[in-house]
Amino acid sequence: MKRRDFVAAAAAAPVAASAANGKLAILGGAPVRNAAFPSWPVIDKIEEDKLLAVLKSKKWNRLNGDAVATFEKDYANLLGARHVLATANGTSALFTSLNAIGVGPGDEVIVPPYTFVATVNVVLLNYALPVFADTDIETFQVDPRKIAAHITDRTAAIVPVHMAGGAADLDAILDAAKSRNVPVIEDACQAHLAEWRGRKLGTLGAAGCYSFQASKNLNSGEGGAVVTNDTGLYERAHSFHNNGRAFRTKGDGFSYYSGGANLRLTEFQGALLNAQMTRVEAQSKRRDENAKYLSSMLEKIPGIKPVKNYEGCTRSAWHLFMLRYEASGFAGVPRDKFLKALSAEGIRASSGYSPLNKEPFIKNALESKGYKRIYPEKLLREWAERNACPKNDQLCEQGVWFTQNTLLGSRSDMEQIAEAIAKVQRQAGDLRKA
Ligand SMILES: Cc1ncc(COP(=O)(O)O)c(C=O)c1O
Repeated sequence: MKRRDFVAAAAAAPVAASAANGKLAILGGAPVRNAAFPSWPVIDKIEEDKLLAVLKSKKWNRLNGDAVATFEKDYANLLGARHVLATANGTSALFTSLNAIGVGPGDEVIVPPYTFVATVNVVLLNYALPVFADTDIETFQVDPRKIAAHITDRTAAIVPVHMAGGAADLDAILDAAKSRNVPVIEDACQAHLAEWRGRKLGTLGAAGCYSFQASKNLNSGEGGAVVTNDTGLYERAHSFHNNGRAFRTKGDGFSYYSGGANLRLTEFQGALLNAQMTRVEAQSKRRDENAKYLSSMLEKIPGIKPVKNYEGCTRSAWHLFMLRYEASGFAGVPRDKFLKALSAEGIRASSGYSPLNKEPFIKNALESKGYKRIYPEKLLREWAERNACPKNDQLCEQGVWFTQNTLLGSRSDMEQIAEAIAKVQRQAGDLRKA
């Protein structure tokens, strides 16, 4: 954190002390916090220099420059992976991976309902059938028992999402997948530097997918990567993301290996990633320290249930700090009203995902001509019943998220978040009546 931000945050602390016991800000009292949280992304002269170097080189495409290749090598080293293939974004990393393992029409792919829509869109893009496994609400991760129960002869892939940069239960998921010989594609789009039993997420399944979209803990505006230890998969993925051209074709080579698309990252994005990589470890450590401190304070507040990580998750990326809000601990105040009261105290949070498995666009896709030609009528008719996720429905009503930049602040910033939530909780009776 820059000294300037630190001083601003520290200066805000006395406000918290006096405002904490006063009237709620939404009811006319003084807010707990006036200062902004650290902004994102963090940039410096390193970004400027690396971007200018690419600009001046006139090599703006990865097929003739070396910024993307440098990033791939460094990211592979950081993750302990044999191969990293940079892609245009996280969605195309997932799309490329599913194509590299041959997922297509008639296949089922098991996905969580608590995720960004891209995890499911790539399944639909391949005319495969998304099958939703319910959520473990303590961890916000997909429930591995529900995955196991959903595996059928049609299952062509399991795509666990490492939600918010915590880890899905990979011991149980990989066991279930292995026993039925189904590949696992880890959606690690939110999980930069996070680990399962000391190994970086994305490196335990057949492939892992990352996103470097603007909100992510490693950011090039847009960007993504496929990570794998499987050389054959890497080569197929490489071809697919390069219009199906034969592996590593450059310039004038026009021989084709497979179908594909242009999903390449530009050299400018490669340059930004190389610059952002210089801070990723330190930022990740700060988030981890702050998240643990914040959790320790929040778990004492009635009605607030901070996210838990599985014992195997030896490091979380804390792309989001998530908690469950139980209105019963807040005199029955609905979550939206709680969020408004918190915002008035100077602490912004959001309510997170809504149930993806209930989205009308998925039902529409399954009722389309293409799906009806591919899948048995009975299978499509029973889809909604098979894909009910009651735990996830509950989670979507209770979830509260803080963005990762919030965790780049100081310890006193974390204290203000906890103090603001505690203040709203203490005065929830007044808030309910207002
Ligand atoms: C879990 C998850 N999967 C996939 C994606 C897609 O990544 P991108 O936005 O880079 O396409 C995201 C990004 O928001 C994500 O959070």
